[in-house]
Amino acid sequence: MKAIAAYEDGDEPVVIEKPRPEPVDGEALVRTLRVGVDGTDHEVIAGDHGGTPEGDDHIVLGHEAVGVVADANDTPFEEGDVVVPTVRRPPNGANEYFARGEPDMAPDGQYHERGIVGAHGFMAEYFTSPAEFLVELPPELAAWGFLVEPASITEKALEHAYASRSAFHWDPESALVLGNGSLGLLTLAMLDAEIDRTYCLGRRERPDPTIDVIESTGATYVNANDTSVSEVPDAHEPMDFVYEATGYAPHAFETIEALAPNGVGALLGVPGDWSFEIDGGRLHREFVLHNKALVGSVNSGYEHFEAAIDSLSGLSESFLTDLVTGVYGLDEFEAAFVDDDTTIKTAVEFAAYEER
Ligand code: NAP
Ligand code: BGC
Ligand code: ZN
Repeated sequence: MKAIAAYEDGDEPVVIEKPRPEPVDGEALVRTLRVGVDGTDHEVIAGDHGGTPEGDDHIVLGHEAVGVVADANDTPFEEGDVVVPTVRRPPNGANEYFARGEPDMAPDGQYHERGIVGAHGFMAEYFTSPAEFLVELPPELAAWGFLVEPASITEKALEHAYASRSAFHWDPESALVLGNGSLGLLTLAMLDAEIDRTYCLGRRERPDPTIDVIESTGATYVNANDTSVSEVPDAHEPMDFVYEATGYAPHAFETIEALAPNGVGALLGVPGDWSFEIDGGRLHREFVLHNKALVGSVNSGYEHFEAAIDSLSGLSESFLTDLVTGVYGLDEFEAAFVDDDTTIKTAVEFAAYEER
């Protein structure tokens, strides 16, 4: 079968031949439909994040997948079920985090991430997975199923951010998303369903397709070239919730200043090492005197995937069509990895979905 891989000594993804995997006890064989591409894939290709499976010089890419069960292999699934795989797997047999159903809370060394670190991903014509890591998707969502994983990232971040505000009455009315990449825009649409006034910050000038998407959700575009994150309260309003999806490290600290009293910021970006100056005293004081919180959040668990399916089914077809700028077959897979100003969200299609 064909798979798309990144080599340790390469800087572009390539198509390779691999044997079709055989499911072992407890695993189902899945025929891959579509696999999405996000900023993390670009970081893996560049060698800035993650790593190849032990003993291999390459990693099969892809962690945002949707597929159809091809061989249920005595698992609770049936052939033809549409499924989305979760990303983390235990490295050497289950550990306490996996046993508790909280793999997303496992520290380094206690997980592999398929397509990112230590385990091959889903960009192949077939993949196998233990049934417990497959989430069933309503077939009518099959075409958009590769968006479940990124939406699950936001479900987890929101759960943790809201939990940090659960000790008092907190009813967020304003939210700011930092970053107009695919994660930022998807999150903006998800927040739009819950929060009255939404904003999204980017560094693009008009005309730009991401600004069109932002405005189509009813949100206000904040141009970072005119208004820094710290200036947002004066230029617009203080934010009850901030979701950072730029990976631009100064934003973590500026978020504290963008927050309203009692607000919370969720940090999602994964920057490299970077030293810069901040006014630590002022930020510390801001935190304390205004009961602010910041939470870091990575990965997601089974329940977040289930919540993501619910959220995805509430997003309009027109938003999804604007967000997904290209779905490419294996013969033109390179197009899915182009990262320019006209590309928002892309996916590679391995097989078209056929209703049973
Ligand atoms: P992406 O497509 O690279 O999006 C990042 C966006 O942020 C881009 O649109 C970029 O703008 C914008 N940006 C970067 N620096 C900026 C700045 N200084 N001011 C304004 N805008 C800025 O990546 P993504 O897939 O959406 O993911 C977003 C981030 O979340 C990445 O760092 C990724 O690694 C991380 N992530 C984390 C998790 C997790 O579990 N924590 C999950 C998924 C992704 P331009 O396009 O104009 O350059
Ligand atoms: C993936 C997560 C993963 C994170 C860190 C993200 O792009 O969606 O599942 O935990 O990268 O590797
Ligand atoms: Zn991702």
